Amino acid sequence: MNTFKKLVAAALLLVMPAVALASGAAVHLDQAPVNLEDQASLQRGAKLFTSRCLACHAAASMRYNRLNDIGLSDEQIKTDLGLPEDTKVGDTMQAAMDAGSAKLAYGVAPPDLSVIARSRSADWLYTYLRSFYVDANRPSGWNNTAFPNVGMPHVLADLQGEQHLVVEAHDGHETHKLELAAPGSMTTAEYDATAGDLVNYLVFMGEPAKLVRYKLGMIVLGFLAVLFVLVFALKKEIWRDIH
Ligand code: HEC
Repeated sequence: MNTFKKLVAAALLLVMPAVALASGAAVHLDQAPVNLEDQASLQRGAKLFTSRCLACHAAASMRYNRLNDIGLSDEQIKTDLGLPEDTKVGDTMQAAMDAGSAKLAYGVAPPDLSVIARSRSADWLYTYLRSFYVDANRPSGWNNTAFPNVGMPHVLADLQGEQHLVVEAHDGHETHKLELAAPGSMTTAEYDATAGDLVNYLVFMGEPAKLVRYKLGMIVLGFLAVLFVLVFALKKEIWRDIH
């Protein structure tokens, strides 16, 4: 019994930090509408990413021509994505602004976003992109409930509009919620869909080989199905004389 108690205590000690961490991440995350088979969404996300994010962030593990995998031709990559003049489709995605100047301007160097969907999760990104609010106390004029005191300004504010943080006191505890104070060019539903496209693209970018793996998985299943039929026929053949 004693050892049993010790074991239970040890197990609890192992689990506790995980529970504490989970509850520490007090931000509620909304579920990102990720669908790697939706090429139109991935293409919209790619366009948004190259036109809105590469100004500051790089995605150095990503080459433009990997966008062939989501159905964009080399010609479309060159003409539709608004790439800088001298960019070749075989180039990796570099930031327009160098890291040093960006650090001076925003206080923090914008990190490379190649694998951000893996380090932060799709749901976190989806929540983050929809959680900017106006905050006069921040140098950029913006803050974010998913990433308090973030150095990044709300670069999609023209689309989403301006949100304000509303803090309400309910006997003893506070609730925080974001309210749209001035609308942007999109409705909330349109902006959510746009953020969804962007996150879908970030997930694809974090692991472009996933699409290849899906195809490979289907081929393997097909092969196993054929193999099963052959082996079954073989088994019948072998046992025919015995039965
Ligand atoms: C004007 C420059 C600028 C642009 C444009 C920009 N960002 Fe940022 N971003 C930053 C800076 C600076 C940080 C670092 C913030 C910090 O750590 O406080 C950052 C941080 C982030 C982070 C958090 C990274 C982490 O885990 O620490 C994500 C995610 C992100 N940006 C996504 C995007 C996306 C997606 C776009 C395009 C819609 C974009 N950014 C456009 C400047 C920019």
